Amino acid sequence: MTLRYSLFKRLKSTKPFYVTTPIFYVNASPHIGHLYSMLIADTRSRWEKLNPNKFSYMLTGTDEHGLKIQTAAEKQGIDPKVLVDRVTGNFKELSNKLDINYDRFIRTTDKDHVNLTHYFWNVMEEKGFIEKGSHSGWYCVSDETFYPEANTEEIEKDGKKIRISSESENEVVYQEETNYFFKLSAFQDQLVQYLQNNPDFIKPQHRYKFILNELMTTKLPDLSISRPSSRLKWSIEVPNDPSQKIYVWFDALLNYLTATGFPNGFLQDSKYITPEDNLWPATHIIGKDIIRFHCIYWPIFLLAAGIDLPKQVIVHSHWLCEGFKMSKSLGNVVDPIEISEYYGIDPVRFFLMENSNIEDDCKFSETLLERSRDSLLGKYCNLLTRIGGGKFDIRESVEYCKKGKFDDISQLIQNYSLKKDIVPSILQLSTDLQDDINNLYTQMDEKIINFDYIRAVQTWWQVINQANQLFQISEPWLYIRALKSSSGLDDKTIEDYKKLINYYVFLCSETIRISSILIQPIMPNLSKDILDRLNIDINMRNSDYVKIGADLNYGDGANSNKHKLPLQKLQPRVSDKIDD
Ligand code: MSP
Repeated sequence: MTLRYSLFKRLKSTKPFYVTTPIFYVNASPHIGHLYSMLIADTRSRWEKLNPNKFSYMLTGTDEHGLKIQTAAEKQGIDPKVLVDRVTGNFKELSNKLDINYDRFIRTTDKDHVNLTHYFWNVMEEKGFIEKGSHSGWYCVSDETFYPEANTEEIEKDGKKIRISSESENEVVYQEETNYFFKLSAFQDQLVQYLQNNPDFIKPQHRYKFILNELMTTKLPDLSISRPSSRLKWSIEVPNDPSQKIYVWFDALLNYLTATGFPNGFLQDSKYITPEDNLWPATHIIGKDIIRFHCIYWPIFLLAAGIDLPKQVIVHSHWLCEGFKMSKSLGNVVDPIEISEYYGIDPVRFFLMENSNIEDDCKFSETLLERSRDSLLGKYCNLLTRIGGGKFDIRESVEYCKKGKFDDISQLIQNYSLKKDIVPSILQLSTDLQDDINNLYTQMDEKIINFDYIRAVQTWWQVINQANQLFQISEPWLYIRALKSSSGLDDKTIEDYKKLINYYVFLCSETIRISSILIQPIMPNLSKDILDRLNIDINMRNSDYVKIGADLNYGDGANSNKHKLPLQKLQPRVSDKIDD
């Protein structure tokens, strides 16, 4: 348990928001799809932490057991432990390089996890839900699951007949063996009832309907949860039976409980009660390919044990590259570390959140990534550049607001506008902008808590665009020019001009300050550079300060000429066409 979390437990009694990613198979290197799962969770967890009264805990890690890993290690002629240590390092490197702010990186080879898996197995066995039996069927090593024969088909590959899963198109092999079985069927009705009473349990809705329909129309077969040790060597041993190893998914799903410290503190009078200050229940982020494991098997394991079900399962779609799911064999894998080294960490994070919705598959395209980065440079960073030069003075504009010098601003806009016909537009735009800035947190919050990141980012852009537009049409530089060129201005006019200049600068700097605070969960570095440049106190970068005028102490040094642009223009490295 991290120090921060133990501190939280002492200080607060409200429940933390506990968010998890799937734990990643370590048979191959991480790609952009893995980063996507991590980013959805990281953004949500950081969003929660933006509110000083809330707390969150993010869990990610690696799934290190099973035939898939064993086979990969055999192919490379190395010990599985050597392989998992190396590839886990790659996933840690990915999360560290891409600034994934996890609270724990769990490995299923961790001691507390192995202990918990044994404990959970014993509980299930004592309750009579685990039985030994014989099993035969079509097993897919790549997907680590059995498929019913009806869901497989024979094809010809390299002149040889092989059988594949119709769903994943990965090869299946016939296996007959003694296994332990879990009585899934005993909980089918209970799960249906739970889903009917909790229609938000699985999001988006079409995934919920799919699972509910499957449960209502198909009788669940019992689940084989072990394999003979002669075949599966690299897995956790079944308690008191060295001839069998635990099925990798049974062990993997339990990682979400391991991180909560289960069963310590949960057990009261032989019942599991989730303590109020405990992390559990979790919100799980998963890809669409592992829905059955998380929305059928996992809830049933928990129902059987008498533990509360997860709060929610958020199922996201996949990133496609050149029209296909990324895979090593297709050679269309996008390496997240390589692209972030070229485009920068934050532009990559921003691009993935700006261009994906959890409902539909998303197309990865480097051209779109370049465009998204150009917009950050041309609109977000440019707003800062516009008011951050030597002509203006951000600190002075903040000071003007503090001293109440904008109280008669509407009158001044009308009196002194150099182009009378645009006065109504300026007044309207500045009112809209102020309203939109003040509502930005609530507006983004509504979307982010529903994992609707695209729309949250669109709302964010709207405010930036409005501020740029206001600056463009109000032309504050003309007042500067007037102040410089004409010596005949009286003191009142000079002060009124200064008020107008500072008002527009202030609205733009408030746009930058608040939008930067609110984009921290997606772009922690670029927002930090910009907030640093504005000289915002580190303790005032949270949701308590997201209204206009909530922080009037910043701006010192923001207009000094020692600052560099927070993002540099890059040479395009792809052709102009949008990839299919
Ligand atoms: N080890 C299991 C999960 C166990 S959780 C108790 C597993 N691992 S995985 O490495 O194959 O996949 C991890 C996650 O990455 C899954 O949620 C999967 O959907 C996601 N992605 C894999 N390819 C992806 C894309 N191309 N796009 C988006 N996400 C994708 O499954």
